[in-house]
Amino acid sequence: MTRRALVEGVGHYLPERIVPNSEFEKTLDTSDEWIRSRSGIERRHFAADDETTSDLAMHAARAALDSAGLAPDDVDGIIVATSTPDLTFPSVATMLQQKLGMTRGFAFDLQAVCAGFVYALSTANAMILSDQAERLLVIGAETFSRIMDWTDRSTCVLFGDGAGAVVLGPGEGDGSAADRGILSSDLNSDGRYLDMLYVDGGVSTTGTAGKLRMQGNPLFRQAVEKLTTTADAALGKIGLTGQDIDWIVPHQANIRIIQGTAKKMEVPLDRVILTVQDHGNTSAASIPLALSVGVAEGRIKPGDLVLTEAIGGGLAWGSVVLRW
Ligand code: ACO
Repeated sequence: MTRRALVEGVGHYLPERIVPNSEFEKTLDTSDEWIRSRSGIERRHFAADDETTSDLAMHAARAALDSAGLAPDDVDGIIVATSTPDLTFPSVATMLQQKLGMTRGFAFDLQAVCAGFVYALSTANAMILSDQAERLLVIGAETFSRIMDWTDRSTCVLFGDGAGAVVLGPGEGDGSAADRGILSSDLNSDGRYLDMLYVDGGVSTTGTAGKLRMQGNPLFRQAVEKLTTTADAALGKIGLTGQDIDWIVPHQANIRIIQGTAKKMEVPLDRVILTVQDHGNTSAASIPLALSVGVAEGRIKPGDLVLTEAIGGGLAWGSVVLRW
């Protein structure tokens, strides 16, 4: 028998405040039409002033634990993928432990910007397969609204806040691609592209959190190529191709990147979970948010083959293939 890390529960949380594209027309030289046609985004959620990343993570974690029928102390650890922590330290994950009333296990944050959730899933899978944990909460949670330059129309209209979570637990299979659980992953990064997407502040430079800076156009071109390559690599490790996929659950940065990647993989768009129109780019939260929405809508079902893929600052990119 082969050990597998199975998804036992999934949940998400979006802050109450919904901001339509038209809101930006009041302060910037932009339009609903430009934002929709260039990015696919129609609205996004922004956290309230007193709402932090760990608050969003807590709601998503509770929803995922509820859907798995588990209590916080049933998990051995928490991994939070985020680039927008409440504080420089301690980690959002330990703050979440406190908020959940969890008194055992370990908790840490992982930072790979928009690829964070894929990195976190892959890490959690490795920990479960190597017996370091039996059951883990894996979360993507972000408040990107806090690092926006509200005078920069080329970035501030693209991002949103939210959180999504999964519970990964122990499973078994025969070692084939027919098993349920995480089947393969592929992780990459290349620091030559640092300038394409970064935040212009930090602890050891400016002493401030900084604002997001992005060269959208060259990043766009890198994204389609690198996402297709990593998806093919993860699928190839288990002898599968795009034809075998039931659902692509992509990082929700831009509808045109999602369409371009699906087309290159020869996967029709009706097999792609899309939330970018409602959430904008929520960085590490976007994939678990989309997984949770896909399950809640009755689209992703047990036994379905799911491909998650993401790219973000670094550049860092990767994919995880799992059978739900
Ligand atoms: N409203 C109106 N015009 C705008 C806006 C706006 N909000 N923003 C930019 N423009 C203008 C630009 O100034 C430019 O004008 P110019 O031609 O006079 O210079 C024009 O629109 C075209 O700009 P481009 O950048 O070429 O537009 P593009 O079609 O590339 O779309 C976008 C921009 C949406 C940012 C796209 O490039 C993109 O999605 N890039 C990838 C982003 C991404 O993948 N991020 C993933 C990682 S995110 C993370 O890791 C945190």
